[in-house]
Amino acid sequence: MATPRGAPPMPSNTAAWFIKGHPTLNVAPAPYTQPRTGEIVVHTRAIAINPVDWLIPHIGRFAYPWLKSPAVLGFDLAGEVVEVGPGVTRFHVGDRVLSLAVGTEKTRNTPAEGAFQAYAVVLERLTSPLPDHLSYEQAAVLPLALSTAACGLFQTDQLALQHPSATPVPTGQTLLIWGGSTSVGSNAIQLAVAAGYEVITTASPHNFEYVRTLGASQVFDYRSGTVVPDLIAALQGKTLAGALSIASGSAAACMDVLRACEGRKFLSLASTPISFEPLAQQPHSPLLLPRLMGQMLGATAVLQLKARRAGIRTKSIWGGSLMNDEVGPLVFETFLPSALAERRYVTAPDPEVIGHGLQAIQQGIERQQRGVSARKIVVSH
Ligand SMILES: NC(=O)c1ccc[n+]([C@@H]2O[C@H](COP(=O)([O-])OP(=O)(O)OC[C@H]3O[C@@H](n4cnc5c(N)ncnc54)[C@H](OP(=O)(O)O)[C@@H]3O)[C@@H](O)[C@H]2O)c1
Repeated sequence: MATPRGAPPMPSNTAAWFIKGHPTLNVAPAPYTQPRTGEIVVHTRAIAINPVDWLIPHIGRFAYPWLKSPAVLGFDLAGEVVEVGPGVTRFHVGDRVLSLAVGTEKTRNTPAEGAFQAYAVVLERLTSPLPDHLSYEQAAVLPLALSTAACGLFQTDQLALQHPSATPVPTGQTLLIWGGSTSVGSNAIQLAVAAGYEVITTASPHNFEYVRTLGASQVFDYRSGTVVPDLIAALQGKTLAGALSIASGSAAACMDVLRACEGRKFLSLASTPISFEPLAQQPHSPLLLPRLMGQMLGATAVLQLKARRAGIRTKSIWGGSLMNDEVGPLVFETFLPSALAERRYVTAPDPEVIGHGLQAIQQGIERQQRGVSARKIVVSH
């Protein structure tokens, strides 16, 4: 469509494109898309990388079978509003924001809404304003990890916890968060504490102090041979609000703790039961993916049986699903803006800025694949 006479020219856009069958992203021109009702266009200034960004090229045909090709991936962005669509009331051109980009979600499925581009269309309901004290790089660490944590904690078919607020009402209950030093865990700890729960978590010893500063009351080394009995001992006399397991392979241990302790027998699952990390080490092995998929089906069946025997309900999280329910506005409109502005909520973990420009995203994905510890890989733009 031609630009109307007198209107400013549309910006020229560039994206890091994902093409099915191609192992690496390709930076190339992309259309600039104008926002529709409830949408805004953000000029991205920082983009963060999540494990799913390197998983989609490997297991996208199972996890995201709807995804069109070419696609623009990426969930986490922070930047400056350049255009607002009809009905948008919370944002204006020039505002600094962070947003969860949902271009790969089944009901959106459009390159215009992926984070890995210069001008991304995002939803007003999944966007928060940034206070001046936060850089774009700090802010970009939040969206998907925060959303995933919030889905697990607050969705009515998940743990359905009391909502977070500036003045949390203590519930007297304790939440077990397995994997507190992950990006998802860093947000889950803060959200649960802000909702009035005590948090007991796991991490490597070098991250014990880190998770305590986020609000965990006790922390245990997940590699210790005694971690399950240690957690059970720590939870004696307490009432569990349930558990959130983050990191592949952690669900079974969480079930052992839930079974032995008082309280709600509900386990919210952030991760697949087996890790797909071997795909990063052997991307060209043709038999590896079928083998891992087989292992995953087997591990899922074993976990379901274990849960049924222990009387534990489980549910997997889909981090983008808050786009369709009350948890999206709860997080991005009601809770986060004032919590960030008043420094009640911190952007954790810290960003590790891997480079500048869309070309650096591929490098960022490869860095994320190699593993991080209480860090988020970020590309500035
Ligand atoms: N369901 C969804 O929609 C959704 C969305 C986002 C992420 N996820 C999943 O959630 C998980 C976390 O994602 P993320 O981005 O937060 O990961 P991340 O920050 O990249 O994870 C790195 C952290 O994992 C921790 N870790 C590794 N193995 C662990 C274990 N066995 N037990 C406890 N902690 C362990 C490490 O802790 P230490 O350094 O302390 O050892 C490290 O800090 C991943 O499995 C990811 O695929 C799911």
